[in-house]
Amino acid sequence: MWLAAAAPSLARRLLFLGPPPPPLLLLLLSRSSRCRRRLHSLGLAAMPEKRPFERLPADVCPINYSLCLKPDLLDFTFEGKLEASAQVRQATNQIVMNCADIDIITASYVPEGDEVPRPGIEPRLLSVKARSPNHWTARESPTDCVFRCFDNRKQFSDNFEIHATGFNYQNEDEKVTLSFPSTLQPGTGTLKIDFVGELNDKMKGFYRSKYTTPSGEVRYAAVTQFEATDARRAFPCWDEPAIKATFDISLVVPKDRVALSNMNVIDRKPYPDDENVVEVKFARTPVMSTYLVAFVVGEYDFVETRSKDGVCVRVYTPVGKAEQGKFALEVAAKTLPFYKDYFNVPYPLPKIDLIAIADFAAGAMENWGLVTYRETALLIDPKNSCSSSRQWVALVVGHELAHQWFGNLVTMEWWTHLWLNEGFASWIEYLCVDHCFPEYDIWTQFVSADYTRAQELDALDNSHPIEVSVGHPSEVDEIFDAISYSKGASVIRMLHDYIGDKDFKKGMNMYLTKFQQKNAATEDLWESLENASGKPIAAVMNTWTKQMGFPLIYVEAEQIEDDRLLRLSQRKFCASGPYVGEDCPQWMVPITISTSEDSSHAKMKILMDKPEMNVVLKDVKPDQWVKLNLGTVGFYRTQYSSAMLESLLPGIRDLSLPPVDRLGLQNDLFSLARAGIISTVEVLKVMEAFVNEPNYTVWSDLSCNLGILSTLLSHTDFYEEIQEFVKDVFSPIGERLGWDPKPGEGHLDALLRGLVLGKLGKAGHKATLEEARRRFKDHVEGKQILSADLRSPVYLTVLKHGDGTTLDIMLKLHKQADMQEEKNRIERVLGATLSPELIQKVLTFALSEEVRPQDTVSVIGGVAGGSKHGRKAAWKFIKDNWEELYNRYQGGFLISRLIKLSVEGFAVDKMAGEVKYLLSGFSVL
Ligand code: BES
Ligand code: ZN
Repeated sequence: MWLAAAAPSLARRLLFLGPPPPPLLLLLLSRSSRCRRRLHSLGLAAMPEKRPFERLPADVCPINYSLCLKPDLLDFTFEGKLEASAQVRQATNQIVMNCADIDIITASYVPEGDEVPRPGIEPRLLSVKARSPNHWTARESPTDCVFRCFDNRKQFSDNFEIHATGFNYQNEDEKVTLSFPSTLQPGTGTLKIDFVGELNDKMKGFYRSKYTTPSGEVRYAAVTQFEATDARRAFPCWDEPAIKATFDISLVVPKDRVALSNMNVIDRKPYPDDENVVEVKFARTPVMSTYLVAFVVGEYDFVETRSKDGVCVRVYTPVGKAEQGKFALEVAAKTLPFYKDYFNVPYPLPKIDLIAIADFAAGAMENWGLVTYRETALLIDPKNSCSSSRQWVALVVGHELAHQWFGNLVTMEWWTHLWLNEGFASWIEYLCVDHCFPEYDIWTQFVSADYTRAQELDALDNSHPIEVSVGHPSEVDEIFDAISYSKGASVIRMLHDYIGDKDFKKGMNMYLTKFQQKNAATEDLWESLENASGKPIAAVMNTWTKQMGFPLIYVEAEQIEDDRLLRLSQRKFCASGPYVGEDCPQWMVPITISTSEDSSHAKMKILMDKPEMNVVLKDVKPDQWVKLNLGTVGFYRTQYSSAMLESLLPGIRDLSLPPVDRLGLQNDLFSLARAGIISTVEVLKVMEAFVNEPNYTVWSDLSCNLGILSTLLSHTDFYEEIQEFVKDVFSPIGERLGWDPKPGEGHLDALLRGLVLGKLGKAGHKATLEEARRRFKDHVEGKQILSADLRSPVYLTVLKHGDGTTLDIMLKLHKQADMQEEKNRIERVLGATLSPELIQKVLTFALSEEVRPQDTVSVIGGVAGGSKHGRKAAWKFIKDNWEELYNRYQGGFLISRLIKLSVEGFAVDKMAGEVKYLLSGFSVL
């Protein structure tokens, strides 16, 4: 439908008659084809036709966006004015851009060279602040006035300004076609668009984020989240990563608010006619993609420093909490020079701001020069933050700052290569944290957090290759998953190990230098690394990125005099059992082999490029063990012959196998058992070898595997037995650790204590339960405040074995908590409660005003993971509240996370059938 005539009146209503009326909301809602498609999957709406996705035409493209936005923090609307200098490459009478949930008021194009300069008038937005249509003078129609002259230095004669005669919104495609009455000739010109939009509450595009002032008043900030495809909700633009341009951004804001954008402020001046408003102008950005543009308007405090390499670094916090920004500030100031050295490319902007946003869907977002974070991913309170929060903040800061080079300076050509961005940043964040905090032993934690998580997902029949062709925004949303992040990071780690740090760094520098300010694809990175290393990188890596899954290497050994002969074979590993098809995929697998003679160095490295291979290890005595995959770096699982596995057990018991190898071995065994390839009983017997285990991460992974088994057994009569087993496994280490830190203990001891006590408490270990109750009582009565590291395990224990009064106390603690970290800590354990009425109370709480919109997911997920009844109740709750939940997350990655958390614990066919039926066509999983 041609909306040119209708849009202005709609826009006027939005702007001048207060909050958007229901018809507009309905209109916005009805624009969301994804909503309709997904509602249909749940039997709630009709399925629309799906049109094939098309990228934007290349006949007109932007050079520079001059963008001025004026958010209204009371009415939740914004006015915008865009003047984009653009190049017409091919004569055309229409311009196609991305645009969603925005109403264009006027649009015109002025070919370059046709303007008549009128010097002496300052450039500014002259929008009229009055809300009443009566304000307009007879000469000025409202539409003319709302965005009168943005840049008055150039006055365009009407003869040359070509006014668009139609705006054709293709809502399904999130595009608008501007039609012009005459042909736009090849050359440059200025596209001028006036528009209005809503500061939405969906945590995407230009949205409102709620906060409470220190005096208790509820207010709103205006913030952005554009990745992947939501810049188009803030201004009409060419919203594709390869269509880069520079940006001159101005914000018109109340003068008592902080206004931030990607670049430093170059001008701040009073706004005409309103002494309470100022116009803040930011320096021009480098050439960049739209998804990295950001602005924030709100009330914040900050801490500031200058990094060794001269960049001004600030951490913005809620008012009164500047202290809580210091930890992230230190990490950021150390990280910038680290990356500068690693890439041998300087950070190109004069400043970087890191800001905590109250309502925030992702963990953090790498907007160039203005990185946005959830409060819990940025703020650390010396007393009230636990060790795992510190570590998380360090990792997230390391991740987002890595993107400033890898992603922002060099950007993926299309979302198919998203994994390059996310996989790489998810790998190098560990390198950075290892540099800043060697005491975290973070690489071992990588294996438990990313590597095994990726293998778990990638063994499923419905996994996908790392490189996956995507088009429509809903498909792009889907690939922000463990395959892009964790498998991506794991294959990069394997590649780094295969190439060696020196050549890897050299290749990275070649890649970043060659493609800076441009875009690149996966093959471009391979080419640079191939040139740097002389190794067949593309051939090896294509087997890992272009096909889904990974191999199981079966290995058996034979002693031949002083040598050991190994027979290796590879076959795809499937969570559902051995691969049975004819054409089994093959991988080029870099394999390392170590022996008990030197357990931390590879005795041999091979590239396994065939289904089967034999290798001979010279001088290996019959009593020595042989192990594959030193450091658990290769992205494969290993199945040893019984004899080889038996010989490795003493290496676990006497700790001569390195921790990360013990972890990998244990994880392989559990997943082989889950796939029905080996017996679970045999694996549980191997657990005995871990009696002396001192390592936090090994325990953490083991605990996770026992948790999965325990969830599975909750559907059988063996649940009590597995609880007893868990208590037996964890009691010795629990006794060794005790409740209070000992002198000289560090970060990992704190993490281990929390893990073990939580596990024992949850399983109902009597002594742990009693002590947890005692400490909880003291905490609540204010006699002895629990240390931050003990809070989660204690809260979990008392809730799981508590009653309605315990839940009420927890909810009170939640209400009183000033830090979001504490609120989240409580929210995550609420699902441990067991009685059906209390479970219902927790679910209702999940959707209440008390819980931030992004955190509802972990409350419901906690209920589903907490107990068998909780699982059923959570699933029913999701079905009953589907519209509300969908509306809240608009089909983004949070809804897929919610569904994953809620259904992954089911273990009966009937439920699988129901979930499948309800979600058929719901392609986000
Ligand atoms: N680019 C992402 C943010 C993002 C995620 C945007 C999903 C759109 C959809 C950012 O770099 C990121 O990866 N954030 C992570 C945290 C990180 C430490 C793994 C996140 O938000 O979970
Ligand atoms: Zn990222």
